[in-house]
Amino acid sequence: MEQYIIRGGRPLKGEVTISGAKNAALGILAAAVMTDEDVIIENLPDVRDINVMLEAITEISAKVDRMDRHTVRINGSTISDVAVDDEYIRRIRASYYFIGALLGKYRHASVPLPGGCNIGSRPIDQHIKGFKALGAEVRIEAGSVIAKADRLHSAHIYFDVVSVGATINVMLASVMAEGQTIIENAAKEPHIVDVANFLNSMGANIRGAGTDTIRIKGVQKLHGTEYAIIPDQIEAGTFMCMAAATRGDILIKNVIPKHLEAITAKLIEMGNEVEEYDEAVRVIGAETQRHTDIKTLPYPGFPTDMQPQISVALSLAEGTSMVTESIFENRFKYVDELARMGGNIKVEGNVAVIDGIDGFSGATVTSPDLRAGAALCIAALAADGYSTIEEVGYIQRGYEIFDEKITALGGLIKLVDSEQEAARFKLRVVG
Ligand code: UD1
Repeated sequence: MEQYIIRGGRPLKGEVTISGAKNAALGILAAAVMTDEDVIIENLPDVRDINVMLEAITEISAKVDRMDRHTVRINGSTISDVAVDDEYIRRIRASYYFIGALLGKYRHASVPLPGGCNIGSRPIDQHIKGFKALGAEVRIEAGSVIAKADRLHSAHIYFDVVSVGATINVMLASVMAEGQTIIENAAKEPHIVDVANFLNSMGANIRGAGTDTIRIKGVQKLHGTEYAIIPDQIEAGTFMCMAAATRGDILIKNVIPKHLEAITAKLIEMGNEVEEYDEAVRVIGAETQRHTDIKTLPYPGFPTDMQPQISVALSLAEGTSMVTESIFENRFKYVDELARMGGNIKVEGNVAVIDGIDGFSGATVTSPDLRAGAALCIAALAADGYSTIEEVGYIQRGYEIFDEKITALGGLIKLVDSEQEAARFKLRVVG
């Protein structure tokens, strides 16, 4: 079983380059099969979720040509199957974007219903509401969502909750519908805008992405394109919190500072220094940091995907902070793991009350999910002594060469596969 062994207690310093946004890439890859022409996607992150998505695309018989580590050519003209295999949806929830993409292109899709996830219940009622409003007949049969339409037509859709997934899925289904679709109460995350820009570069007519109201005028067909994915806001935010927690100094390159404003604002409130450049941010962690309160909200609010990482940083700040999780109900599972490292966090419902501590001490902990796993690594990097992080597969789903990027910043981390390897690393570090 792969694990990270981390020897903490060193401030992380230097430069790190952020990869392409995983969550944008997932929507863009599904959208890429909606034309019969070649689509070239650049700045694709080389992470497990993306590689599974590419496998799923191959499985429905589209052509996937990995031109280099971060570039892929996709051609959807050979698609012979509108049914996505259960295996992919189990491995990666976002393969539900194939419902919107295949329904939009072929007027028919069959995709297994995504199951529960370890950050809380994740219904797809709003996706289905949108598909039905466009004229599709949607039924659940033998655990799959089967969506079919003779024609997809204009619709005015009001989402009852702000949902990233539903906004992207309905955009996909409506780009080639007849007439105009209006989505109200749409999600505004940077990756919504990126998927819309990508579709527009294929000839779609989408206006208003990034605001509450998105207007989509249906076009007859989409054409090929070449497109570079935006940088990953959450990966950047993770390194920002790492600089704060380890009292380091990190220049985080290839970012869009505007996308990081909520994180920047909180780190500054805590007393850290954040310098913004055109395509970089530099975070200088203050020796003494202050408590603050945070509530996760849809963009431009504080991202739920950054909640565990900032909570680790807040644990090392003076005073008591309150972190309210308003998007997913089960996102505090890392708190018990952090307690093993000396963390003092009490959870009441969707609020975590964090009492600042002087420092973490190394321990063996298990990643409960992707972002919580990254947060535990931050705690381990700030901690005294050695930590072992188990279940690193979660982290590898969304962070490209996480250990290598940390090593380049002076962090002592090693991905190991056996006790012997772990022992060798410890000997080398001591030596
Ligand atoms: C996406 C991100 C995930 C992030 C989340 C919130 C991807 C691949 N994943 O997930 O990393 O944590 O946004 O920023 O982009 N909801 C419903 N009905 C629906 C859909 C959602 O009630 O039909 C609820 C969910 O339970 C949740 C909230 O809406 O409470 C937000 O979920 P949503 O924005 O859809 O998250 P995802 O798209 O699954």
